[in-house]
Amino acid sequence: MTNAALAGRDLISAADLSAQDIAVLFARAGELKAEYRAERRHASPPLERKTLAMLFQKPSLRTRVTFEAGMTQLGGHAIYLEEKIVLGGRETVGDVARNLENFVDAIMARTGPHEVVVELAAKASIPVINGLTIREHPCQSLADLFTLHERFGDLRGATLAFVGDGNNVYHSLALMGATLGMHVRLAHPIGYGPSGRIVERAEELAAASGGSISFTQDAREAVAGCDVVYTDAWTSMGQEAEAEERRDAFARYQVNRALMAASPDAVVMHCLPAHRGEEITSEVMDGPRSVIFDQSENRLHAQKALLVELLGA
Ligand code: CP
Ligand code: NVA
Repeated sequence: MTNAALAGRDLISAADLSAQDIAVLFARAGELKAEYRAERRHASPPLERKTLAMLFQKPSLRTRVTFEAGMTQLGGHAIYLEEKIVLGGRETVGDVARNLENFVDAIMARTGPHEVVVELAAKASIPVINGLTIREHPCQSLADLFTLHERFGDLRGATLAFVGDGNNVYHSLALMGATLGMHVRLAHPIGYGPSGRIVERAEELAAASGGSISFTQDAREAVAGCDVVYTDAWTSMGQEAEAEERRDAFARYQVNRALMAASPDAVVMHCLPAHRGEEITSEVMDGPRSVIFDQSENRLHAQKALLVELLGA
């Protein structure tokens, strides 16, 4: 039985999900993961004859493969549409949405501008899932917090220190972490902070849940006493021209053995792809405190839960 509260909805921002929605998704992800790990199949695939259209304006390993393999495992089908076919100027975003809603059961889109996913969702009557925009990456934060939930249980009061860029991955973690009552710290160089609008929303959510949102320029201060250290690439997709400038700006924000010593029990996370030797050393990434490949595995299970709940199966 799925939870009627999620059926038919979109996932555009991490703030779209209430703590209750997230609890439902974690429970469903746990069930699907246990069954899939034990049997490598689902006895009663819940999405038979359902189709997901996947639109990509940017490259992807994890998002593409986990959504596509996830649909197969659930008994359904996914269609990969490259940028030239959709969202590439052949027709309007609204017309793409109005075609796809007649052909498929849900859309997952990775776009540059956030507004494109918002418009797809406004024009299509079927669920639309944000597979990453410049502003947010809610599927990532769902898998990340599911990974932490598996290890720590209730996340209320847990402290996550994000070290690096106040980017899409940080935005969604701050919003979802705040919804769950977490303390989300960000250590970032001046000039590379998050969006003021996202921070305002995350602060509202934290005020309601007992969590908090805080900022510093000092990576050690952020990491001290935290439960989770999180980092992401210093240069996101589409910012390649700034890569050198960013390497200089972020040089003091590498997650390495010395920084991890500030919080000896913390686990370390990264959404991947990683630039080994830049934002994180191989020693930390491959070390005993890394849960990075669990996060990546959980993209599959968390998104399968999302698909089952949104499609109301
Ligand atoms: N973390 C993540 O979204 O990976 P991809 O860019 O490979 O999809
Ligand atoms: N911040 C990164 C995340 C990649 C999954 C980017 O937007 O490229």
